[in-house]
Amino acid sequence: MIKKQTRRTFLKRIIGSFLTVLGLSSGGYFYANRIEPSLLEINELDMNHPLIPKSFEGTKIIQFSDTHLGFHYDLAQFKKLVTKINDLNPDIILFTGDLMDEPNKYSKLNDLVPLLDRLHAPLGKYCIYGNHDHGGYGSEIYRNIMESTNFKVLLNQSIAIKLKDGSSFYLIGIDDAMLGNPDLPLALKNVQNNHFNLLLSHAPDLAEAASRYPIHWQLSGHSHGGQVKLPILGALIIPPFAQLYPEGLFRIEGRYPLTLYVNRGIGTTRLPFRFMAKPELTIFTLKSSR
Ligand SMILES: [Fe+2]
Repeated sequence: MIKKQTRRTFLKRIIGSFLTVLGLSSGGYFYANRIEPSLLEINELDMNHPLIPKSFEGTKIIQFSDTHLGFHYDLAQFKKLVTKINDLNPDIILFTGDLMDEPNKYSKLNDLVPLLDRLHAPLGKYCIYGNHDHGGYGSEIYRNIMESTNFKVLLNQSIAIKLKDGSSFYLIGIDDAMLGNPDLPLALKNVQNNHFNLLLSHAPDLAEAASRYPIHWQLSGHSHGGQVKLPILGALIIPPFAQLYPEGLFRIEGRYPLTLYVNRGIGTTRLPFRFMAKPELTIFTLKSSR
C-alpha cells in the first residue's frame, strides 16, 4: 500500500532527521547545547517617534529578557551579562520577563540579588511578568526579588519617565498573557494620549490588541526566537502568544500604528539548545523623528 505523504508527515520527517543528525553528530549537539547558547548578539536600533521629546534624543535603553536562570543558565553567566549591560552605559534598563525558569525551586536567590542590584541605569530599571515568573506560585518571589533590587515592577500600570526640564514619556507594563491577567485599559488609565507611550508585554502577540490603543512602541520577549530553527522551515516550536510575531521588528497598522520589537532572550527552556537563534541584548536609542 502506498501511503500518501502529507505536508505534516513531511515536516515531521524533516524535523526528525534534524534531531537525528543533531543527536548523532557530536559537533551539532555540542554547538547547539554549549556554543550557541553562550553567544551574545547585541542589536542596536533607533526608537523613532515624533512624540518623543527632543530632550530625550540619544537616551539609551537596554532590553534583556528570558534569562530562565536555573535551567542551563547560571549565575556566573548572568554576572558576565550584568557587567556587559553596565559597560554599555544604559540610561534605562528594561527586563521583559522570565527571570528564573522555576522561581519556587530556585535555590540561589541570595546570590542573584546582588547581581540584579548591580545593574545601573540613571533613569531607572523596570520590568514586567513573564509566564515563568508566575509559574509554580512564583509571582511573589519574582516581585520581591525585583523590587529589592530597585526594579519597578509594572503590572498593568504605567509610569512617567521624566527629565529635569519637565519633558516626559510613559512606560507601560502589562501582565503576562499565558498565566497572568493582562489589562490594557487599566494599564493605560493614567497615560496621556499626546505623549509617547512605550508598552512592555512579555507576549508579543498582544500587539494586535495594543494597536487599538494609543501605544506607539511595544517591546516583548517570550519566543526565544524559536530557540531551535531549521534552515528554510524556521522555528521548531513557537509558544502561544508569539505565533504572529516570533522575532525582530514589526509594524502593526491598527487604529494606532505600532512598532513592535521582539527580543530573542538570553537563556533556554524545555530543551537546553539554541540553534540559529542566538541570545540577544537590544540597545534602543531614542530619536524624536519618524
Ligand atoms: Fe521565556
